Amino acid sequence: MKHFNIAVIAGDGIGPEVIAEGKKVFSGIAEMDGGFSVSFEDFPWGCEYYLKTGEMMPTDGLDILKPFDAIYLGAVGYPGVPDHVSLGGLLLQIRRGFDEYINLRPVRLLKGAPCPLANVLPDDINMIVVRENSEGEYANVGAHLYPGTEREMALQTGVFSRHGCERVIRYAYELARLEKRSLTSISKGNALRYSMVFWDEIFAEIGREYPDVETHSLLVDAASMFFVKDPGRFEIVVTSNLFGDILTDLGAAIAGGMGLAAGANLNPERKYPSMFEPIHGSAPDIAGQETANPLASIWSISQMLEFLHEQEWAERILSAIETLLVERRTLTPDLGGSAKTSEIGAAILEILER
Ligand code: NAD
Ligand code: IPM
Ligand code: MN
Repeated sequence: MKHFNIAVIAGDGIGPEVIAEGKKVFSGIAEMDGGFSVSFEDFPWGCEYYLKTGEMMPTDGLDILKPFDAIYLGAVGYPGVPDHVSLGGLLLQIRRGFDEYINLRPVRLLKGAPCPLANVLPDDINMIVVRENSEGEYANVGAHLYPGTEREMALQTGVFSRHGCERVIRYAYELARLEKRSLTSISKGNALRYSMVFWDEIFAEIGREYPDVETHSLLVDAASMFFVKDPGRFEIVVTSNLFGDILTDLGAAIAGGMGLAAGANLNPERKYPSMFEPIHGSAPDIAGQETANPLASIWSISQMLEFLHEQEWAERILSAIETLLVERRTLTPDLGGSAKTSEIGAAILEILER
């Protein structure tokens, strides 16, 4: 029987609360004769670990994670540790160190999920955002110069390599071809004269190899407007690291909220482990209250199983989430219910067992 060995970094704030539910679903499926077994190894890395040790993870953290089949992450960052230290020392290190250059973020309004937009039906919002995840605005290149003088300034350089742009854009074209859906590139060539013009050129160049794929290009400001006014126009979306970050929180807002938005950080070549996580953060405002919605975290287990070639279970988990939303019996307060975080994993398993 297949065995999956999963590294778990529950992290900070609501991270451990939502991760516990995803683990319940994964091991519950294994126990109900899912056709595989699973073991988890928990790593206590995060802000508390930093306050004790002075680092977010051990220096050989990536070597420790490398043999695992996948990484399951909750959230990183908490008041008391500066965000650039916590995120730079853990989450972004893993994304970069394992060359997880594809960030796949579904923006899909499931039946029963709340939508703040008028006249929108489930499936009117059904896109996959392919976010560049290794360079761009997140390249970690810059400087803080002349501190304390009148010339003080900060520089933050975006890095858009041909290799980096080509691989994410090609991935998006392949996905659009496979799914027979249109592809929209979101950029900002009118203002970002070098990076985004280069991105647009590469998008057009690669497009010549995919004459069967319908393409669109939008500026990110107009795209944000269309996310709200006409989300149905988007199917597969490809965009840079920072734009993808911002657009997917907007996507979460129109498709049920932060508690329902999942993301996969993929190394498509499978040279290194890929990492699966809800896209939300540690939510310090609700941490410890047992009110966090773990459905995003459970959805990311569905993404993990899909990447591990368990397509059928991936689909069944997603449809169980949808059933839970439609039945409205066991939902957390963000979705209008009164259930606790710790009740959701069992509720999903109960649906899967029917
Ligand atoms: P956040 O996503 O943590 O929270 C934004 C809002 O959404 C809050 O009101 C929160 O209560 C709500 N929310 C988020 N997840 C929810 C859930 N599952 N159920 C119900 N409500 C939920 O964003 P933030 O407040 O800007 O960031 C908090 C910390 O998390 C910061 O340190 C930030 O850097 C970090 N962060 C980490 C990740 C990550 O690890 N992947 C992602 C985003 C932010
Ligand atoms: C996300 C988060 C991270 C990002 C932060 C915490 C560095 O917002 O995964 O969406 O910007 O990628
Ligand atoms: Mn984000």
